[in-house]
Amino acid sequence: MMKRAKSKPEPLPAPTPGGPRHVAIIMDGNGRWATQRGRPRLFGHHAGAKRVREIVEACPDVGVEYLTIFAFSTENWKRTQVEVAGLMSLFRRYITKETRSLSEFGVRVRFIGDRVRLDDKLIKLMNELEEATTHNTRVHLTIAINYGGRDEVARATKRLAQDVAKGVLDPEQVDEETLPRYLDTYVLPDPDLVIRTSGEARISNFLLWQSAYAEYEFIDTLWPDFTREEFGGLCASYGGRDRRFGAVKT
Ligand code: IPE
Ligand code: IPE
Ligand code: MG
Repeated sequence: MMKRAKSKPEPLPAPTPGGPRHVAIIMDGNGRWATQRGRPRLFGHHAGAKRVREIVEACPDVGVEYLTIFAFSTENWKRTQVEVAGLMSLFRRYITKETRSLSEFGVRVRFIGDRVRLDDKLIKLMNELEEATTHNTRVHLTIAINYGGRDEVARATKRLAQDVAKGVLDPEQVDEETLPRYLDTYVLPDPDLVIRTSGEARISNFLLWQSAYAEYEFIDTLWPDFTREEFGGLCASYGGRDRRFGAVKT
């Protein structure tokens, strides 16, 4: 069978002034996408993983500096052993396969979430990818694996309490500036725009603290069908939103 020539991607709309600097995506709908095709759920996860590179590479074109993607939640362990093991193996394969192209594109990769429950081989690959891309600045890609917003706040609070017990932190100093320093995302700006694919209008424990003032886009597209054009369109329409942060414009 002849391979279809890859057509040159169409140019995306230019970055809008006031466009989102940090976009977070809840990549949902892989299972339904596979079921619609009569295939096992893991087929959908593989198709979903393939979408990530295109979206990462669209970021500089649309002026997005930070992209954070939800790959596996603290609640996703409730799925069948087959699906969980398949996802873990997919993450290992993804990291091994994509390290080179991510590095060459200038992507700095970080992981958020609790690593303790992950297998040693995956943890090693995650550490190596973070290390290998540490000097890159073109796109900051953060991948959330075994991540839950409540779990993150609980872990942060534990470390904060330990610092108080050690006398390193005065309880009087604990405020909205101090607490986020203990979150997994402490080096990242808050997301400006959170996109969830697949038609579900909920946040499923994603970036609870950080998204307090984010704009949300819930779109029907299933994650394996999400394209750079759709991403570009969402970023462009964000630029037109009136973000008041509780104040009244005079
Ligand atoms: C999102 O797709 C990926 C993960 C949660 C790992 P789903 O697997 O949740 O797909 P649906 O929602 O069942 O279609
Ligand atoms: C959220 O999707 C988690 C990820 C995309 C990784 P889920 O499919 O797990 O969320 P629910 O179950 O619909 O809330
Ligand atoms: Mg889902």
